[in-house]
Amino acid sequence: MNQPLQHTTVLLDEAVNALLGGGGDAAPAGCFVDGTFGRGGHSRLILQRLGAAGRLLAFDKDPAAIQEAARIEDARFSIRHQGFSQLGELPAASAAGVLLDLGVSSPQIDDPQRGFSFRFDGPLDMRMDTTRGESVAQWLATADVQQIAEVIRDYGEERFAVQIAKAIAARRQERGPISTTTELAQLVAGTVKTREPGQDPATRTFQALRIFINAELEELQQALKASLDVLQPGGRLVVISFHSLEDRIVKQFIAAHSREVFDRRAPFAEPKAMKLKALDRIKPSEAEVKGNPRSRSAIMRVAERTSA
Ligand SMILES: C[S@@+](CC[C@H](N)C(=O)[O-])C[C@H]1O[C@@H](n2cnc3c(N)ncnc32)[C@H](O)[C@@H]1O
Repeated sequence: MNQPLQHTTVLLDEAVNALLGGGGDAAPAGCFVDGTFGRGGHSRLILQRLGAAGRLLAFDKDPAAIQEAARIEDARFSIRHQGFSQLGELPAASAAGVLLDLGVSSPQIDDPQRGFSFRFDGPLDMRMDTTRGESVAQWLATADVQQIAEVIRDYGEERFAVQIAKAIAARRQERGPISTTTELAQLVAGTVKTREPGQDPATRTFQALRIFINAELEELQQALKASLDVLQPGGRLVVISFHSLEDRIVKQFIAAHSREVFDRRAPFAEPKAMKLKALDRIKPSEAEVKGNPRSRSAIMRVAERTSA
């Protein structure tokens, strides 16, 4: 591939303003976390706005993102090749803000060798971290029909999940396991009879397998939970989601910690104080979606850690 694969950052200004906006400082001095470095779009703008005493710690699972981060020469910046679920390793109340821009980057989708897209022929991999874990092809080679159906139904909200799982198992028996994106896309297309206009029959299956193989929802849940300990009072939690399963988790998490909790068994006890204050819900402007169609499904939620 001659052209370097690019990523257009979604909600760039909006996310960085929301993240840094908390203290009202012109040049914030705290320690901020970018849990999803990608190609560093958000990180680079954070560094531009950060004061001399500020720090930015980034995470990414993808070795290619870590390689890209090595190009940033700035003593205030560091990166860890880890899942953002490891956020809880940071000291309590040490972070002035946590940003998560969920999902995959364009370079991941657009590189056929990564196996994320049904549009390009490549090995059926889909791991964000190519240095560990099982690829989708390896998992599909041995998983049982019920497991496959559950993954495709739960993470893809696919109504033909059982039929697709059976077709995968049948194909495995007849001709051996599926090893490429094209083989899977063709098998799904032959199984899914009706589809929403404009949607490829394989969209939901590919989404489901990607979410599963990278444990995306578990990672998100762990990171959200850890953010309550790691954020200092007034610190911001900023999360950009790209599909309803992610956004539901973020929305429910913020809602659950944004109200006083009464213990029904102790009706006269003081309620447990709320730990978050919901601040905002922002979607990309029409102009952004026009310039970057991949931003169309983005929803950004912002909350602030209270002093409770
Ligand atoms: C949408 S991209 C982020 C793009 C980035 N904000 C930018 O402007 O370049 C998501 C990135 O997060 C990484 N990622 C996704 N889930 C992760 C997780 N649980 N832990 C660490 N990195 C993750 C992916 O490897 C990918 O590089």
